[in-house]
Amino acid sequence: MPENMLLELRHISKQYPGVLALDDVSVTFKTNEIHALVGENGAGKSTLIKVLSGAISPDKGEIVFDGITHTAMTPKLSRDLGVAVIYQEFNLAPALTVAENVFVGSMPGNKVFIDRKSCEKKTAEIFQRMKINIDLKALVRDLTVAYKQMVEIAKALSRDVRLLVMDEPTAPLTSKETDILLEIVENLKKQGVTIIFITHRLDEVFRIADRITIMRDGCFVGEMDPKNTTRDDLIRSMVGRQITDTYPIRDSSIGEPILEVTGLKGAGVEDINFVAREGEILGFAGLVGAGRTETMRFLFGADKKKNGKIVFKGKDIEIKNPRESVRKGIGLIPEDRKQQGVILGFPIRWNISLTILEKLSKYLFFNHADEKKIAEKLQISLDIKTPDSMQITRNLSGGNQQKVALAKWLAVECDVLIFDEPTRGIDVRARYEIYKLMNELCAYGKAIIMVSSDMEELLGMSDRIVVLYEGRKTGELKREQFSQEAVLRLASGVV
Ligand SMILES: Nc1ncnc2c1ncn2[C@@H]1O[C@H](COP(=O)(O)OP(=O)(O)OP(=O)(O)O)[C@@H](O)[C@H]1O
Ligand SMILES: [Mg+2]
Repeated sequence: MPENMLLELRHISKQYPGVLALDDVSVTFKTNEIHALVGENGAGKSTLIKVLSGAISPDKGEIVFDGITHTAMTPKLSRDLGVAVIYQEFNLAPALTVAENVFVGSMPGNKVFIDRKSCEKKTAEIFQRMKINIDLKALVRDLTVAYKQMVEIAKALSRDVRLLVMDEPTAPLTSKETDILLEIVENLKKQGVTIIFITHRLDEVFRIADRITIMRDGCFVGEMDPKNTTRDDLIRSMVGRQITDTYPIRDSSIGEPILEVTGLKGAGVEDINFVAREGEILGFAGLVGAGRTETMRFLFGADKKKNGKIVFKGKDIEIKNPRESVRKGIGLIPEDRKQQGVILGFPIRWNISLTILEKLSKYLFFNHADEKKIAEKLQISLDIKTPDSMQITRNLSGGNQQKVALAKWLAVECDVLIFDEPTRGIDVRARYEIYKLMNELCAYGKAIIMVSSDMEELLGMSDRIVVLYEGRKTGELKREQFSQEAVLRLASGVV
């Protein structure tokens, strides 16, 4: 093995019922490099990482770490070798504090008694190194997704790592937080850590990666040097064909106001006003903590607002809970889809039909044939990769689980659909499909509210953008006023 080689995966295969998740994959990782691992949803990226962390054993192949050959890893062996993995799904204990979470498993001092003081001091140091302001005593349960992600990273940094694997670490982060994270990653590289970085955001790949490995349908497709590769080349080898448009053209005309919100007030938001019109995509921009998700949850009746008037189709309405909201015609596809979006133990089909049970039931009869038809149609249009719509949702890849959560809401016929981070963790091809679906919904005269931290997506898809900062609306931009600077200025409170 060449000297600067840290890890070599040789001929790794892993079969799941009906899916060959890894098909004879061989990859090498050098010491001290940032190695991007890319590929569409279901390509096998997370599975490969699980082989490396010892979470699963491969059916075939071997793992050479530091010149020593292993046929499989165990979680302990992997940890002892200095491998730390930040999974796509969070592994935090919601009822513990930030500091406790960081040190679970590698508690300093006596194992029986948690040395709270030194635990907090060390955690504070790690967050300082990350330049993140966080309340160490806060319960993880109460944190937003972005902060949960930061806790995951801190947890990995609390041990001596030689190989840090990050499975879509930036997916829940805004552009500013992403910058911080990428800086942390580059610093870690300088400190001698090797990083495997999985992401669907290709601009990040070009910003930090030294090498890129591409996977498709469980196979290793190739390796690329970002310096001699264009974005189009990379997409082509990921998808296996050319994709030209990032944002499909929408030809719907904007109609009457369908939803008018005035003086919305509640925990974390103050005096929010906006109007959403038929056939329009209204973007919501802001940093994490700006109150975007909160605003939407009040609107949807998921949390109780203090004040505010909601006029829907010309009538004053009062929404007490999400059920009522959906019945009236306002749907919300939540940001934290893992927690609120889907029931992981349910088959895909059941998840999709959850929101339309009433429509599918007549007296005592349940229309299974329609349920199957609707689910399969959405499965095809969103390209949810699995042999069968009765597959348990937990067994899907991360991105495909996201798609199930979307499908569930697309099955309901709502006049206003709120998408909170619609394409997070979703690959280029499916992203395009989701945008096309949004456009179709607009063409039917529905209004879409899109909360997004993806600047390109906001500018590319919205007709207007409302910007929030610290719970208040700082501005609203029309298409002709759109620019990254204009959004960022309002999002950082400069009015
Ligand atoms: N426990 C399981 N049972 C059955 N199939 C599984 C299981 N885990 C993964 N798979 C399948 O293996 C394939 C690869 O999944 P994997 O999670 O590695 O994809 P990925 O590249 O990480 O995708 P994403 O970008 O969506 O996270 C998928 O088709 C997935 O459905
Ligand atoms: Mg994955």
